[in-house]
Amino acid sequence: MKFSKARRVAGIVVLPGDKSISHRAAMLAAMADGTSRIENFATSKDCTSTLYCLSALGVRIETSGATVTVIGPGDNGWRPPERPLDCGNSGTTMRLLAGLLAGQPFSSTLVGDASLSGRPMKRIIGPLTEMGASVESDDGHAPLRISGRRPLLPIEFTLPVASAQLKSSILLAGLLADGDTSVIEPIPTRDHTERMLSEFGVDVRIDKAGGGRRITVSGGSQLEARDFRIPSDVSSASFFMVAAACLEGSRIEMPGVGLNPTRTGIIEVLRRFGVDVQISDEGGSGGEPVGTLTVRGLGRPNAGVPRIDGKIVANVIDEIPILAVLGTQAVSGIEIRDASELRVKESDRISAVVENLRRMGADVEEFEDGLRVGPSDLRGAVVDSFGDHRIAMAFSVAALFAKGETEIVDAGCAAVSYPGFYRTLRSTIIER
Ligand code: S3P
Repeated sequence: MKFSKARRVAGIVVLPGDKSISHRAAMLAAMADGTSRIENFATSKDCTSTLYCLSALGVRIETSGATVTVIGPGDNGWRPPERPLDCGNSGTTMRLLAGLLAGQPFSSTLVGDASLSGRPMKRIIGPLTEMGASVESDDGHAPLRISGRRPLLPIEFTLPVASAQLKSSILLAGLLADGDTSVIEPIPTRDHTERMLSEFGVDVRIDKAGGGRRITVSGGSQLEARDFRIPSDVSSASFFMVAAACLEGSRIEMPGVGLNPTRTGIIEVLRRFGVDVQISDEGGSGGEPVGTLTVRGLGRPNAGVPRIDGKIVANVIDEIPILAVLGTQAVSGIEIRDASELRVKESDRISAVVENLRRMGADVEEFEDGLRVGPSDLRGAVVDSFGDHRIAMAFSVAALFAKGETEIVDAGCAAVSYPGFYRTLRSTIIER
């Protein structure tokens, strides 16, 4: 995939459904008793992996365009899968499904691609084992062979790492436990699971504990099937937001975007850099706030303190590659710290970003927990996606700021979260 320097970007961009929310909607609908119709379901490959696994567990699923109908068989209705469940590249599929499989009265095996098989699973194996499931792994990595137990034992668990996937895995297992299961999160992470559980009629209690939040669910809660619409994905929006922010005279409008406060750190950061981000037509959809985002490029992004660290990191965890790209165009660059989780994403995103930025001639310094990017005149180069969708998309945007042509090698992985991304990005480019 090749992109060259753009003068500005403009247009109305309709983004696909949110990946995180789609996974949860499908899984909870599959646990409910009755038919749920989910509109604007993510077209991402990752969410297709979730649908595939649920089908292999005997759940009836019908797909028509972006509408997915799940005929939930109730929490006793899942059947032992005949084959290993292939989660593809999707950490959310593997970690969340592991929680639900821990509470099934049968054995199942979760497998993934090379990237997913290298990602840490001990973080879920520990608490799910404590709840009474048996989880065999390859030294803390997939394949995971889960022998479930019903009911599971309820636990109270404090997250040792700010991870919504870990939190969700335990809360979902908690639905199948004999009593109340609580997760304490010292640092807030995306709360789509809590919201989606409430949408499906589960009583989710939240109180303060451990300097953060304690989330409690009761085992044996019955989920009620329901219909709703998934908001568009704010993480997919971030690529267009940064393109518009850095190219003066740009204007990109994106309707129906999810504006959950645990995901909108990107808006806060862009505003801190002086970018004009407007929100209009606010409403709600499926228990999630939505609105139209309009971003205008007013000039070079410029922040008084161009440092991203501490609690906001979990909120922008998927946006850090594109924020690093923004740093090249910002008056004082950008520094990102407290982000060592990035090293265990679909790729080691710190080293992938550093490597590609260097190839494009940027001034960049790597730290164990982040990176610093100085304001840089980028030049076109051959860069690598490292098989990681967000790296591929972030560097397509970097290409718009660079002199000459940039080639993104192995760019097809963008489909993991956003099939059609390149076509849409190209349609917004105004070259002269
Ligand atoms: C996700 C949580 C985050 C995020 C991932 C999606 C989710 O991962 O990076 O893209 O849907 O819960 P971690 O829980 O590993 O931080």
